[in-house]
Amino acid sequence: MSDRRQFITGAGLAAFTGLGAIGALYAAKRSWDPLPSVAASGFTIVDLSVAKENQLVVEKWRGKPIFILKKSVDMKKDKRDIVVNGENFHISIGLCTHLGCIPSYRPEKKNFLCACHGGEFDASGNVTKAPPPSPLVIPPFKLDGTKLVLGEEGSEYKKLKDADLIA
Ligand code: FES
Repeated sequence: MSDRRQFITGAGLAAFTGLGAIGALYAAKRSWDPLPSVAASGFTIVDLSVAKENQLVVEKWRGKPIFILKKSVDMKKDKRDIVVNGENFHISIGLCTHLGCIPSYRPEKKNFLCACHGGEFDASGNVTKAPPPSPLVIPPFKLDGTKLVLGEEGSEYKKLKDADLIA
């Protein structure tokens, strides 16, 4: 095969693979993201007003999964909760603090299970079963009405940080 032919074939394969990757990302984004959101220059803005109780939403911010969970009235409130319009939300980076797997939410048990080594977190991200050494980490955020702006440190985030409740 000539160099030119090889180049063209390689370029075609790269374009095809790229399209496939974009399609897969789009499909993942759609299945993860039932809330209206906008991502721009390091920030992700999520409208919390349409979140449903006890249904985990997984957003993406700077390549990391972000857990957003609106608590139902029967769920325990926590000092790490973010309160918007009188509703309590748990928001965290969805990576296990043991070795970085993505825990899954179990709505019937209202907790997170990390399948890698059996670690568990409650619906506020606190460890309820080892080996995770610390709670799920709260990402930098700002509240703008019912909009959550991920990537900016607002006053609510600073309060949690000052109280040592971020992780
Ligand atoms: S990575 Fe989650 S328990 Fe080990």
